[in-house]
Amino acid sequence: MHLINFKELSSQQLMEIIDKAIEAKFNPEKYRTVLNGKSLAMIFQKTSTRTRVSFEVAMTQLGGHALFIDWRTTNLALADIHDEIRYLSRNVDCIMARLMKNADLQAMAKASRVPVINGCDEKYHPSQAVADLMTMKEKKGTLKGVKLVYIGAHNNVCNSLIEGCTKTGVKITTVTPIFNEPSRDEELLENARKTGLYEPTLNVKKAVKDAEFVYTDTWIDMEFFQDPKYAEEKEKRVKLMMPYQINKELMKRSNAYIMHDMPIHRGYEISSDIIESSKSVIYEQSENRLYSAKAILLKLLQKY
Ligand code: CP
Repeated sequence: MHLINFKELSSQQLMEIIDKAIEAKFNPEKYRTVLNGKSLAMIFQKTSTRTRVSFEVAMTQLGGHALFIDWRTTNLALADIHDEIRYLSRNVDCIMARLMKNADLQAMAKASRVPVINGCDEKYHPSQAVADLMTMKEKKGTLKGVKLVYIGAHNNVCNSLIEGCTKTGVKITTVTPIFNEPSRDEELLENARKTGLYEPTLNVKKAVKDAEFVYTDTWIDMEFFQDPKYAEEKEKRVKLMMPYQINKELMKRSNAYIMHDMPIHRGYEISSDIIESSKSVIYEQSENRLYSAKAILLKLLQKY
């Protein structure tokens, strides 16, 4: 079993992972040696703080070992993915990769004889969504019928939230004036529409009014944020998205918890006062990346 997105997971399996993450959070000793002798290869083509740290610490706390592999320092950079992964999967027990292209991740999954975890590509960010759903379940005690509003660009995080929410009974409304075309997955959106739990809108004020969670993410993908070649597009996006910033004015009639997958761009998608407000669960959400990484690893390595 791989975790590229949630398409291959049943609702029950996804709920099991979320519940295992909550259980692992409060019973770390129970899992201290479960992955004794196991190794996780973590391959990165892009930068990361949370995904790298959470998976590496998860492996350590489960009794295993993680290798950080910068794509550029390996022969993945010059050889065929298929050949390199055929080799790698003979020496490690699991692979987690953050790649630019989902197609390369799919190629990895096809070549690998061990589970492959998507550590975020242009289409999906499933390990983030597990931590998000876990955080929501911790706050509300259930996911069924909970209302989440995502405000920002329609991107990889948005896709995985739509998929994760609609599989677990969460009502998700998206307010996405920008659609990142490389993230488009019509099949995922069609499946979400069929559940009746997914509603896109541009009426941001109405959307947040009865939301229980309001979630945002960067308007500009991490690899472009500081790229001078992207400056014009960045300026255009900031102008278009500023009316959708999560700030005191937008949230004045809402009692929703505030979520953000981080890294945060203060003053862009969210104001500093909202990040620091009593309704912000952003740092709990980021802490939960560790427990969700544990639950994902335990599931894929068949420990429950
Ligand atoms: N949210 C998230 O994936 O964080 P990193 O980019 O720091 O890994």
